[in-house]
Amino acid sequence: MPHLPVLLRDTINLLVLKPGSRNIDCTFGDGGHSRAILQSAPNVQLLGIDADAENIIRAKKQKEFKKVILVNDNFRNLNKIALKNNFTDVDAILMDLGWSSTQFEKSGRGFSFLRDEPLDMRLGVGELTADEILNKWPEEEIGKILREYGEERNWKKIAKAIVDYRRGKLIATSGQLVEILFTLRLGQHGKIHPATKTFQALRIAVNYELNALKQALPQAVEILKSGGRLTVISFHSLEDRIVKRFFQNQIKHLKIITKRPIVADRAEILANPRSRSAKLRVAEKI
Ligand SMILES: C[S@@+](CC[C@H](N)C(=O)[O-])C[C@H]1O[C@@H](n2cnc3c(N)ncnc32)[C@H](O)[C@@H]1O
Repeated sequence: MPHLPVLLRDTINLLVLKPGSRNIDCTFGDGGHSRAILQSAPNVQLLGIDADAENIIRAKKQKEFKKVILVNDNFRNLNKIALKNNFTDVDAILMDLGWSSTQFEKSGRGFSFLRDEPLDMRLGVGELTADEILNKWPEEEIGKILREYGEERNWKKIAKAIVDYRRGKLIATSGQLVEILFTLRLGQHGKIHPATKTFQALRIAVNYELNALKQALPQAVEILKSGGRLTVISFHSLEDRIVKRFFQNQIKHLKIITKRPIVADRAEILANPRSRSAKLRVAEKI
């Protein structure tokens, strides 16, 4: 299934894009939101960033993104990237966090518990991989990331099972990890697959995702012009909490536009199940 941009109409409406405005898409992905930004007003300028080189290489070959400045980097370096490309006094900044359906289904990097692939899980060029965590980290450290980044209530049992398994052989693939989880017969967490939280925890740890977000948010406020808007779409409570608290703490610099996060309606959730956990928050620089 191709990547369907989530909460697209709300995002574009709330960004209030004007002709000739300067915008940054910090999470270019497959360019779904970027495409809509480009079409929303004449002469829109756009800087697109993505940590995954494959996304940027693909976009550079697409005619429709010819006028977009495309940068393969982590948004934790937002200020530096913006300055280098003369993108200061920006009208709108978008972060659509996490990873795209294309990465999930086609990257071959072990993001999906539905595929049997090497456990890499890097979005960019970091050194840490998921298999290193699983095969080398002490049981307590594995338990800690499962608890903190996965909010996995069975973190203790899972960490122990991982360490027991690796005494016999290396954990090299997503299929092996799913096998370990299934052997525990932990049952479903409501409607989600029993491997969801473990995979989420590993991806966050491998990519230092929460730190990148914490580092990028103040930089976004710095490069926005007065009246410019920052829009963040998050997919789990850890990210959403960071965004919510950041907006509240920036009361001197930001006006919160979305008092409550915007979520997908039934029709969108049916068409795109990924959208069920999406939360959109928008703030405007004072
Ligand atoms: C949900 S997808 C974005 C999809 C995009 N909005 C679209 O409609 O096609 C998130 C993207 O952000 C990228 N990403 C995640 N964390 C990042 C970071 N810290 N810096 C830069 N890119 C990041 C991922 O590689 C992925 O391509």
